Amino acid sequence: MSDRDPSHELRVSKIHNGTVIDHVRSGQALNVLAILGIDGSNGEEVSVGMNVPSDRHATKDIVKVEGRELSADEVDVLSLIAPEATINIVREYEVVEKNRVERPEIVEDVLSCPNESCITSANEPVSSRFEVLENGIRCHYCDRIIREEIATLIDA
Ligand code: CTP
Ligand code: ZN
Repeated sequence: MSDRDPSHELRVSKIHNGTVIDHVRSGQALNVLAILGIDGSNGEEVSVGMNVPSDRHATKDIVKVEGRELSADEVDVLSLIAPEATINIVREYEVVEKNRVERPEIVEDVLSCPNESCITSANEPVSSRFEVLENGIRCHYCDRIIREEIATLIDA
């Protein structure tokens, strides 16, 4: 505990079957879990590495989900907070598929609009919907454009 080294390195062991979300921007691992709706309550085995040394950048975050193969549709929304993430599908300890996340055109449900006057902020049965722009997202209902603070809009 006396070690105050800023790279709180956590060695995460290999998984048997499941998904490894690798090359996540440092600081975004918990947002990745929040976006995917993974909080461990279903009993799934989840490992998280934060500020792990990386060959491409100084450090990265990494998320490993045992027993679940995440589909491209599920993970593409991650491109908003982790544009360089790779999605590795693991079977019997081997990586059998490796994909980059792609920017979706529309993001529904996972983020809430920060505009208090937006219809989606009222107690109406309207789910959120954002159009994905070059460098941000635009609320389909109130046209509010959000650039930097996307991670703060995640529906927990
Ligand atoms: N991994 C894992 N469990 C396995 C196999 C792989 O947790 N049974 C992890 C590795 O630790 C790595 C990621 O999945 O973080 C991708 O594995 P691999 O493709 O073997 O590594 P690299 O070639 O280094 O990947 P990249 O080129 O995408 O950096
Ligand atoms: Zn809105």
